[in-house]
Amino acid sequence: MTPAPLDLLVLGSGVAGLSAAVRAAGTHGLRTGVITKGGLDLATTRWAQGGVAAALSGNVEEIDLHLADTLAAGAGLCDFDAVRVLVDEGPRRVEELIALGAEFDRDERGNLELAREGGHSVARVVHAGGAATGAEIERALVAAVRRTAAVLHEHTFALDLMIEDGCCVGVQAIDPNGQVTQVRARNVLLATGGAGQLFAITTNPSVATGDGVAMALRAGVAIADLEFFQFHPTALYHPGIPRPLLSEALRGHGALLRDSSGERFVDEMLPRDVVSRAILAEMLEQQTDHVWLDATGLDHFAERFPTIYSDLVASGLDPMTDWLPVAPAAHHQCGGIVTDLFGATSMPGLWAAGETACSGVHGANRLASNSLLEGMVFGPRAIESIASGAFGPSATGAMRSVLGFAESDDPTLSILGVALPLPQTSTAEETSPADVTGTPVTNPHAASSSVTPQSLKRGLQQAMSTDAGVQRSAETLHRAALVITQVMADLAPMDPQEVAVAEVQNLAQIAQTLVAAALARTESRGTHSRLDYPGLDPAQAHRLVVGS
Ligand code: SIN
Repeated sequence: MTPAPLDLLVLGSGVAGLSAAVRAAGTHGLRTGVITKGGLDLATTRWAQGGVAAALSGNVEEIDLHLADTLAAGAGLCDFDAVRVLVDEGPRRVEELIALGAEFDRDERGNLELAREGGHSVARVVHAGGAATGAEIERALVAAVRRTAAVLHEHTFALDLMIEDGCCVGVQAIDPNGQVTQVRARNVLLATGGAGQLFAITTNPSVATGDGVAMALRAGVAIADLEFFQFHPTALYHPGIPRPLLSEALRGHGALLRDSSGERFVDEMLPRDVVSRAILAEMLEQQTDHVWLDATGLDHFAERFPTIYSDLVASGLDPMTDWLPVAPAAHHQCGGIVTDLFGATSMPGLWAAGETACSGVHGANRLASNSLLEGMVFGPRAIESIASGAFGPSATGAMRSVLGFAESDDPTLSILGVALPLPQTSTAEETSPADVTGTPVTNPHAASSSVTPQSLKRGLQQAMSTDAGVQRSAETLHRAALVITQVMADLAPMDPQEVAVAEVQNLAQIAQTLVAAALARTESRGTHSRLDYPGLDPAQAHRLVVGS
């Protein structure tokens, strides 16, 4: 007998997915399942350092300042209403997390300690274990979800959405025994995180392959803002992936950036897109592969930042005496599946939250420590909406880019969408290098005889880092497009139900959309920096939307 569909199936077990699952199964008693491709606690959330930004005093002016900082970082592309929701509801969600058992750092009087990070005009970031905030939040949420009746499918890889009559009705997945199975649900929430694995150097773990966004792309669901991929300025220059992060909180406490001659070259507290570009410019000018973070002036480093300290000691560095080598690393996908203010996507029955979603809160560049916050605000919002019987999107938030909206005099509400023409998928043979760049290009894959999903992933990551990373141009993007086409052609004969193959296919499809969007956006804005279009173009203050 086929089991009755669940009320809700959550894909992903980071902060967005687990806060949603706890709300659905615990608060509302919905029949809830969670699918995650690793163990429950193996989500990118666990690697998040700095913390959660929220105006905890509840003071209206402080909340409005958080709103203003978020809009400023977003370089004109934030959805005002979505940011309003984020900053207004954030403090309550932090309190709920504390009630669930999350322990944030406190001073000797028991008050929450607040840190300041780049782009924030005041200290408002709560943190745990110094810079182990994600790990503490993940711990608390995993424990909370295990206390509910939610059915947990760990080590299960979601392959594709099941769609009937234009509505999402579940997913096809590979179970831990390698068998393809179907899980039916009235509502599916995609909370599968981002796609940091698109790039060779990233702070994201190996699970960050953008599976939810790729599934939505294949299903024709509206996606936007993928050209905005944030690079964290200060990842430790180190061979390991994920790259150990030297949290922005270090700069918030006074750590300084220095070039190879020891000079400062940027205001360390500027938003991270600006700092990343300044570091890259310095590296190019001085022909080095890193700059230095000088934290020697910080008091009590080991006590304040124990996890960072132990990473440094393991690398043979003493932050009290050594300058620390740092370079930018891919960190956060600002765009994703377009949602309304309640997490609904353009497909009825399909919801999205957290890094997977384009809720409009980040625009062209995310403000530091707003990502955990986004997950804990918009995951539960989707559940409230599902519990109230909603089904299908409303023309609110970033969804206005897809559905349109009533005329408004407020320019911050006028971020409409423009359809993004996707390149035709063609085989490598059909795509001549001279066709796309005008100059001959050698593709390292073309000659390869022993192609594996792993080698394809490495080639894709290298091309994306070199040609579609912190800075791009039409020429470099066309070069990346060529490699992506070849990767797709090489994947075609492989078994799409093998997880390693499916992950690379997901990355390649996202890479294709990201590159198309980056080519179409002929300006520089936020994290999207074009060498051939260095200025911001006010006429391009809209989202590029693929799907409908
Ligand atoms: C950091 O600690 O620097 C990262 C925090 C974030 O990504 O918001």
